[in-house]
Amino acid sequence: MTALSSLPAWQTTLSQAAQLRSIDLRQAFASDPDRAQRFSLKACGILLDYSKNRVDDAAMANLFALARATGVETKREQQFAGAAINITEGRSVLHTALRAPAGSVIDVDGANVVPQVQDVLARTAGFAEKVRTGQWLGHDGRAITDIVNIGIGGSDLGPFMVCEALRDFGSKQLKMHFVSTVDGWQLATVLEQLNPATTLVIIASKTFTTQETLTNAKAARQWLVNTLGDESAVAKHFVAVSTNAEAVSAFGIDTANMFGFWNWVGGRYSLWSAIGLPILLYIGETHFRAMLAGAHAMDQHFKSAPLEQNLPVILALLGVFYINGMGASTQLISPYNQPLHRLPAYLQQLDMESNGKSVRLDGQAVDYHTGPVIWGEPGINAQHAYYQLLHQGTELVPIDFIAALENPKSSLEHNTILLANFLAQTEALMRGKNEAEVRAELQAQGLTGEALEQLVPHKVFGGNRPTNTLLLDQLTPSSLGSLIALYEHKVFVQGVVWGINSYDQWGVELGKQLAKTIEAELRDPSIQGKHDASTNRLIDYVRKALN
Ligand code: F6P
Repeated sequence: MTALSSLPAWQTTLSQAAQLRSIDLRQAFASDPDRAQRFSLKACGILLDYSKNRVDDAAMANLFALARATGVETKREQQFAGAAINITEGRSVLHTALRAPAGSVIDVDGANVVPQVQDVLARTAGFAEKVRTGQWLGHDGRAITDIVNIGIGGSDLGPFMVCEALRDFGSKQLKMHFVSTVDGWQLATVLEQLNPATTLVIIASKTFTTQETLTNAKAARQWLVNTLGDESAVAKHFVAVSTNAEAVSAFGIDTANMFGFWNWVGGRYSLWSAIGLPILLYIGETHFRAMLAGAHAMDQHFKSAPLEQNLPVILALLGVFYINGMGASTQLISPYNQPLHRLPAYLQQLDMESNGKSVRLDGQAVDYHTGPVIWGEPGINAQHAYYQLLHQGTELVPIDFIAALENPKSSLEHNTILLANFLAQTEALMRGKNEAEVRAELQAQGLTGEALEQLVPHKVFGGNRPTNTLLLDQLTPSSLGSLIALYEHKVFVQGVVWGINSYDQWGVELGKQLAKTIEAELRDPSIQGKHDASTNRLIDYVRKALN
């Protein structure tokens, strides 16, 4: 593999970033009336304005050259065509096939996967429709009123995020509940509100080996059987979504009640598959298909738009510019629409589990930074919490501002105030407030002399804080599908530039292994653990409380 440092475009990225670190964005806008227009584009109903970034034409041109030099276009072709680009697991990466129209041809090992995808989708949608319309009856003949999705990571975050985001499109008959953690409090708190006779439990696990999920699944099963007093009730109240039919069957769920997917769907890319069953149940087949279509539209855009006009490519390259060129280590996601409140958590897994890597595809250690820390909360609340640091702190934090223009449930009054704040923040972060402005402001308030001088430095805002503005026309199944796919492809492009495998997640294994060892030690005080002194002492402390 070519070392990134040997690429001229990489060296140029670093030197341009060093220069543009001190760009005066106010000046850049003032001297270039076309800047906002040139650094904006709209695709799939999403307007991206990236003009408030520390870039100029030369830097953008070089970043596109970097994408070409690192093989983004070739890798993109390979991924869409089903090549086994997840080399450490020997797998294709084909979440895009889950939203490809029926009739498309995408071969994996010589077989077209699209018909299987469409079959499972039709089966899953058919099941969801029966539940939604009250045709699927529980053990004692009553219709289902509550859905409990038991899953974690990709088997929880995507469906949960989408069900929250699309509440305006959701069923009024079905209540959705998501249980992920093995802190039994969560399951108990959900179950205590429910009647098992009208509850459907989805056990969602790609591997069907995840301890948290299986522990919750067993407890939920016991709750149901104990309360309904009949083992056979499980068939009407439990379904599974998994790639592991054997384990599903061993757990006691009839595989007739299982909805499958494939190992070429990564957990964090799986909401488009049968893992999306809670979404299907909640918003129904028409809206689910609209979400798939929105994602497919973004796939097509990503696949065919020139890099210079390509939303995911632009977002990815800007991220590389800040992470590698300016030392940014985090990326803030700031959605302004409340239904998107789980988007940052969803994107945390998508991005950090994908690009939290420090070896390249050839096994060599990287000598540059890779995936950033992703974080965020709905923006308007964040303004009253941590935005102070963004405006005047010492960290460089690139921010994606996301909002929808139309907000049918919100009054015009609310929406105008929301969007005014949304726009004002990106303006404030970019322009800042210089000493002369602060002085003039304070003088206008009647302050003079020492009192004025003391205050000036505290009231100065440096400005030049980079933001992307992403505006959806409206938050709909289709636009949400496009937005999620946009971030999926962004993560992919960054992974290609850094030469890493974005599709494995070996880093989560060690903790799981050690937890097994410690679990045995917590259960059996006679086992003498071989840990460091800190862990030994802590195990002892916890063991006393548990036994
Ligand atoms: O531990 C990490 C992980 O493997 C994620 O990649 C995945 O989304 C999650 O656990 C859940 O896995 P599963 O769907 O197999 O239960």
